[in-house]
Amino acid sequence: MRRGVVILVAAVAAIGILAGGLGWLLTDARPPAGASRAERLYYAYCAECHGTDGRGSWRAALFLLRPGDLTDRRVAVESDRYLFDLIKHGGASIGRPGMPAFGAQLSDADIESLVGYVRTLTSKRRAPQP
Ligand code: HEC
Repeated sequence: MRRGVVILVAAVAAIGILAGGLGWLLTDARPPAGASRAERLYYAYCAECHGTDGRGSWRAALFLLRPGDLTDRRVAVESDRYLFDLIKHGGASIGRPGMPAFGAQLSDADIESLVGYVRTLTSKRRAPQP
């Protein structure tokens, strides 16, 4: 009888820890206090796949998505126009089907500020923070 109670309590505690841990893992990353609008947009719409640092999130990897590395030189040399169109219309039409279109959710001005923000991710990598 006693042992049954101990096992029950242990099981309840284990489930609680598991649920808490899952909740912690699955909660969206929050932008730092005082973040710019572009940064808040990035955290809200892009970070779940591209990671807060732009180098891809483990959650995307979990679903076998390969979001690419936004800090890569390859992205840095793309034109603003290319990045704008890619974010607005998605990658499907240019053979990069993983990248969704955001034209329905985001205004052109928001997409432009996101292009600017993607550029800051690249430069952060070039000049590593101490
Ligand atoms: C559902 C997951 C997902 C979300 C959300 C997402 N992306 Fe992507 N993104 C991808 C994937 C996957 C690719 C790679 C597509 C390919 O190469 O086929 C990609 C590619 C890109 C690229 C090109 C990278 C390269 O290597 O050339 C840019 C730039 C980009 N995304 C920006 C953004 C921005 C900005 C947002 C937020 C508005 C965003 N993405 C949201 C999945 C996502």
